[in-house]
Amino acid sequence: MKGCYHIHTYGCQMNVHESEKLAGILETCGFVACDDVKDADIIVMNTCCVRETAETKVLGHLGRIKSIKKSGAVLVVCGCMTQQPGAAEKLAKRCAFVDIIIGTFNQHLLGEYVDTFLGTGTRIIDVWDKEREVSDTPAVRAQNVNAWVNIMYGCNNFCTYCIVPYVRGRERCRPVDDIVSDVERLIASGHRQITLLGQNVNSYRYGDVDFVGLLKMLELDKKYRLKFMTSHPKDFSPALAERIAQSKVLSHNLHLPVQAGSDRILAAMNRHYTRGEYLDKIAAVRSVVPDIGLSSDVMVGFPTETEDDFAQTLDLVQQVEYNNLFMFIYSRRSGTPAADMPQLDYKTKQARIDSLIKAQFEISKSIANGYIGKNFEVLVAEKKGNTCFGKAQNDAAISFESDTANIGDFVNVKVVSAKNANLKGEVAE
Ligand code: SAH
Ligand code: SF4
Ligand code: F3S
Repeated sequence: MKGCYHIHTYGCQMNVHESEKLAGILETCGFVACDDVKDADIIVMNTCCVRETAETKVLGHLGRIKSIKKSGAVLVVCGCMTQQPGAAEKLAKRCAFVDIIIGTFNQHLLGEYVDTFLGTGTRIIDVWDKEREVSDTPAVRAQNVNAWVNIMYGCNNFCTYCIVPYVRGRERCRPVDDIVSDVERLIASGHRQITLLGQNVNSYRYGDVDFVGLLKMLELDKKYRLKFMTSHPKDFSPALAERIAQSKVLSHNLHLPVQAGSDRILAAMNRHYTRGEYLDKIAAVRSVVPDIGLSSDVMVGFPTETEDDFAQTLDLVQQVEYNNLFMFIYSRRSGTPAADMPQLDYKTKQARIDSLIKAQFEISKSIANGYIGKNFEVLVAEKKGNTCFGKAQNDAAISFESDTANIGDFVNVKVVSAKNANLKGEVAE
């Protein structure tokens, strides 16, 4: 054993899984995981830069790590934040105590960078501007019911507010056979839920297999739950809605980020759909999968957003009645087209998100109340004492008491109470 490592992860599910791969690299090099950053010989910060708050968090955390890390510990910063033009140099100057700075396109070489640093003691700052080689790194997966599987990397959509295409590059799809064999292997090793990952899974294509084709190939003769994220509304097709309806394994939940409810703002965001088209797709999926649980991302305060534009977002949210809504204040990202558009003041943005949060709270409460007395199949993901926590088919989080149910079990549960949006159930006969 060479020592131990500790990884901090920021950002999306993609990054969570990316960190499992970084752990895989470090374990191949002979390091073992440790829980406390104070004990670590290698500390990795896998960063996010989708909003300014994400970057502020990383910088604050780095300052704290500087004062608690043991002497001689190697500090690595990688991920989306360092991939932005000029960001690595800026970070190197500001934080002289960071030893290795790499970007998203070369972090699969983490082991070599660590070796070189340990051999020479010379600080490494190396960020590639694009992918040079494709690597399939073995991941050290969390012992959860869920396992992540990348089906594609990068994004081609260039929504005008978003930094992701700049730091993750263009779309690359993984071969169908690799995905299917990953899923089979993960189920065989005990995972009961697989989540397929991509910035826009609906545009997956490998040879003549599209996303719906891939989902059909994952219709394995095994009891498991299959999820995917994220779907871009412009590419969400009736065929996909039909696949969800027909499937024995697909979860009845759909994350379909709308971002805004006004056509003018949607166009300025470069989203390629209108409010009407979006609502039609929601109606279409509900007509074939009536129990579908819907979730979405919504942004307030996009440049030039008027009170009327915002009212349309609020109205759309009230019309759809999402089970779950992720709400964000627009954050100016340098290098994106929206950064050069006229910006709104902070107070306006804050007031809008406050009223959106309030509206969604009422919606979630009323949906939860409507579940009382209904039965759901819950996949147990966690157990503390006799209390089991898990998710229903439509992604609703439900807790219940049981001495016999175990993590990984599918249990039929009847919802008996809903406090705010917290659902409690009991094992159904
Ligand atoms: N590819 C996915 C998710 C990308 S990032 C998709 O297209 O839906 C996750 C969410 O962060 C986005 O859906 C968006 O709502 C939000 N986001 C992205 N850029 C942002 C920015 N500059 N400011 C605030 N929120 C942002
Ligand atoms: Fe960003 Fe748009 Fe790509 Fe999603 S689809 S990652 S929001 S550019
Ligand atoms: Fe994800 Fe943040 Fe990067 S949301 S893709 S980790 S910028």
